[in-house]
Amino acid sequence: MRTNTTLTRLLGLELIVVTGKGGVGKSSISAVLGRLLSDAGRQTLLVEVDPRENLHHLLDVPPSGGKMVEVAPRLRVQHLLPRTILDDLVREKLKVGPLVKRVLASPIHQHFTEAAPGLKEAAVFGRCLRLLEGHGPRGVPKPDVVILDAPATGHGASWLGAAQLVSDVISSGPIGHMASLVAEFLADPDRSGVVVVTTGEEMPVQETLEFLEKMETRLHRRPELVIANALYPEVPEEAPEDPEDPLFDLWVHRRAINEEELDRLAREWDGPVAHLPLLPLDPGPALVGRLGRRLKTELGGGA
Ligand SMILES: Nc1ncnc2c1ncn2[C@@H]1O[C@H](COP(=O)(O)OP(=O)(O)OP(=O)(O)O)[C@@H](O)[C@H]1O
Ligand SMILES: [Mg+2]
Repeated sequence: MRTNTTLTRLLGLELIVVTGKGGVGKSSISAVLGRLLSDAGRQTLLVEVDPRENLHHLLDVPPSGGKMVEVAPRLRVQHLLPRTILDDLVREKLKVGPLVKRVLASPIHQHFTEAAPGLKEAAVFGRCLRLLEGHGPRGVPKPDVVILDAPATGHGASWLGAAQLVSDVISSGPIGHMASLVAEFLADPDRSGVVVVTTGEEMPVQETLEFLEKMETRLHRRPELVIANALYPEVPEEAPEDPEDPLFDLWVHRRAINEEELDRLAREWDGPVAHLPLLPLDPGPALVGRLGRRLKTELGGGA
């Protein structure tokens, strides 16, 4: 019942931030959510900010190179660099070519945009908000929802708090205005939400628990969903033919760690959790498809 509500909630949001420790499957889950929401009828844009651009591999489309790339009906992917967004902001506000060039080349602008805490992060959310308001490229449908494949949780809470930080420091001008709109948007549970990805291993679960606490204390928010990804399958009850089979031992051992860590997570987090299996598949559409079907079942939406 509770998980069914989670699916309904995810389907009603305008922005979903996907975060988690490095390497746990954030990009894979972002792609899975992209498929799930677009299949359910939502015009969906997947946004990636990692300079190592890799969502296109998972979806089997050409690299975005900063443009929106169509993946399927109602699903697009875009790679955004925070630096480019900030430069675009200067272009848009100054409009006069030579002046824009001088500002963009000036060490003050470069130093400020690199060093100002939270500015680049707030700018990414600002861009998402503008796209949601229909200020995207001509001829491309306005997204109903943006899924942000965000950096690892180590930075996740600071990402989510960045706009508030900027808006506290800069209260006027285009940047201050953008930051306060973004901070308001990220504080609104009817519009934006967070999905945290972990594996059933000690360090990722530890980082997840720390992230949940930071979200609660700093942002007064809880994620919509925690996804425990890449779990070893349950061990069958009957003993193997060879009782010393090392592969069987490995399986039993890894599964036991998964169960221990899932229990630890359950003791600290009473919100929705979805379990996804470790699949013997390379990154790509087949992995995304199978994880997607499983997630739908986990969320009570049928296979
Ligand atoms: N459930 C799964 N079964 C099998 N392989 C998986 C699963 N989930 C993720 N992977 C694989 O694990 C690797 C890391 O996944 P992914 O790139 O999605 O993680 P990430 O959290 O985005 O990493 P990074 O922090 O580097 O951005 C990839 O090779 C991906 O194909
Ligand atoms: Mg990634």
